Parts: sequence; structure tokens; C-alpha cells
Amino acid sequence: MAMAALAPVEHLGALRYVLGGALRPADPRLVVRTMGLEFPSPIGLAAGLDKNADRARAFAALGFGHVELGTVTAQAQGPNPPPNLFRLPADRALINRLGFPNEGAAHVAKRIAARRSRVGVPIGISIGKSRSVALEPLEGVLDDYRASFRAVRDVADFVVVNISSPNTKDLRAMQAAEVARPLFDALQTEATRGGSGESGGKAVPLLVKIAPDLADEAIDAIVDEAKRAGLAGVVATNTTIARTGLATPGDVIEKIGAGGLSGKPLFARALAVVKRVRARIGPDACVIGVGGIDSTETALSMLRVGADLVQVYTGFIYEGPFLPRSIARGLLHRMDVEGAATLHDLVRGPSHVANGASHATVPT
Ligand SMILES: Cc1cc2nc3c(=O)[nH]c(=O)nc-3n(C[C@H](O)[C@H](O)[C@H](O)COP(=O)(O)O)c2cc1C
Repeated sequence: MAMAALAPVEHLGALRYVLGGALRPADPRLVVRTMGLEFPSPIGLAAGLDKNADRARAFAALGFGHVELGTVTAQAQGPNPPPNLFRLPADRALINRLGFPNEGAAHVAKRIAARRSRVGVPIGISIGKSRSVALEPLEGVLDDYRASFRAVRDVADFVVVNISSPNTKDLRAMQAAEVARPLFDALQTEATRGGSGESGGKAVPLLVKIAPDLADEAIDAIVDEAKRAGLAGVVATNTTIARTGLATPGDVIEKIGAGGLSGKPLFARALAVVKRVRARIGPDACVIGVGGIDSTETALSMLRVGADLVQVYTGFIYEGPFLPRSIARGLLHRMDVEGAATLHDLVRGPSHVANGASHATVPT
């Protein structure tokens, strides 16, 4: 329904102009610079809502500071058999097992190329494994990811390699260091080689998206691999296969069956993973926090544990189209209240702001 409702916004420049004027973030205090890119606000659209890049201009007009499009795969493919998407209103959550339905990386890249100049915010593109490609031999998987990467690299400001969706068989096994290592090396070689056309031969920042279900040691291991390979950052987290702490009755959950759970129940784990990733990866890499963000408070908590940027999906479904603006306004309000001059000051917390002020006024 959201995608249908946004069709006129996507296709009518005048409507985007009016809407964008009201909703796009325009306060320099919200600007985030990371990966060599400038984001007008830290709040982005998470992967999976605009899988075929049908509404990139519309989402930007709603005030998202970046859009992550896809996940696309080298081969076009349909969804898993329906039903494949369920609402859990009592939990403000969703369960999905869509399985990367998309028109194929090359096709989607063409659409992005045609509309790119009017999106106006950084575009991330998520790439995944085609369903028909088996995990063994690994060379086949590497070729499949390479093909997606090559198709999208010239139209992407950054690329996210998705090895964490629970809905493609064996995909999450790729998070094991011995599989992640050759994949990261293969794609990072592509990313730094420089493309043609629009990218003008520039390197493209490459990030990896990880699952919340990894044990802490496994998080450390994959972050170490990402660091070793020279990736630009980590997106944490994808949906969870856990079903703990839900208000929705157990028999309803059981009937729904397999899939990835997103939304509010994911927030605490996603927060912990982001904190761990930041501690492990160091201050320079980009960390994008995603999972259960639905308010200024949850966004700020995610930024405070170390995310440079945040993303929303399920929160957007439950809270509606004004969520990005509402979070942006909330952050600006908190800056005013806490006397923080920048988002950076706000994120580092009130004590930092107070200390900073006293440093400035106390003579040494
Ligand atoms: C219906 C649905 C489809 C999704 N598809 C993708 C996808 O294609 N690629 C991806 O990396 N993440 C996908 N995700 C995961 C989201 O990008 C996000 O990581 C996750 O939902 C947690 O954020 P949220 O709680 O704000 O929804 C999907 C999530 C949902 C609910």
C-alpha cells in the first residue's frame, strides 16, 4: 500500500517539490559526513522496502537522508510462495519470508540511472545471492555477487553486501569467516578498482550487513574480516529468527512459521550489536544501525552507542510517512534542550556538552 500511495510522488516532479520542501531535512546541524559522502540527515530507509528502486525519489522527498535500495540479485527472481509477510500489531513487528524478489541487478540499475539525479540523497544498493546459486562451489557464489556488484556500482553511492537475510537458503552461512573472507576480498577488489561511466572511476564504499542472531564472538570475527579486507563499514542488523519476548500469542507465531522478525522486539539486540561492532571496528569505519527504530529516542540511542547513520523499515510501516521528519525534528529539539551545537555533540551526550562549555570558559 505504501508503494502504491507513493506512485504520484515518484512520478510528479511538482508534488515532490512541494512535499520535499516541507519534509526534506535542511538544517546543517543534521548533516553527517561519512565514507566520503554527505548525508543531509542520519535517518535513512532500510533495504527491502524499495527492492526495485521504484520509489527512490519519493522516499527522498519524504525526508529520508539516504535510501538503501534492493536487495537485488544478479538473476531476476520472484518471491517465495505467499503468504510471505505478516503483521504482529501487538508487538509493532513484522515477520517476512519474501526471499529477495527483484527484477535483477542490471534492470534495477538502469532504472536508478534514469532517476538518480533527482533523488538528491546518497543511494545505497544492497546486493544478495541469487536463489538458484548454491553455496558450493564458492566460486559460483563469488561470480554471482561480482555480477551484481558490477551491474550496480556506477549508480550506487555505496553498496551493501547482504549475507544476513534468513530467507535465502544458506545465505547466513556466508557470515562464517572462511566464506566471508574470499567474498569480501573479491568485492573489495571490484570496489577499489574503479568503474566507468557515472562513477568516473571512483572507488565505491562497500559495507556488509550482518544478522542479529550471530553470537558475540562471531560478530567480532566478521567485523575483523571486514576490517582486514578494508570495507567501509557494517550495517547492523538484519531481521532475526528469534521469537522471544513477544506479546503475540505463541500459537499465532507458530502458525506464521519461518521468516525474519523486524520492528520493536529487535531493538535491544540491534542496539547491543551496533555497540559491539563499533567497539571492535574502531572510530573510522561507518556503522549503520537498524532494527526497531521508531522514534527520536530509539534513533538517538542507536547513534549514542556508535552508529553514524540509522535506518528504518518496520517503524515506517507502523508510524507512517512522517516518521523521518518527526525523528529529524526530535533530534533538533534535543540539541536545543541539551545545548548541543551539532549532532555530534548531542550524540556524545550532555556531559560532553557541559565539559566542552566549561573548557571554553575556564581559563587555563
Ligand atoms: C518485509 C521486509 C523485507 C526486507 N527485505 C530486506 C532486503 O531485501 N534486504 C535487506 O538487507 N534487508 C531486508 N529487510 C530487513 C530490513 O532492512 C531491516 O534490516 C530490518 O527489518 C530491521 O529494521 P526494522 O526493525 O526497522 O524493520 C527486510 C525487512 C522487512 C520487514
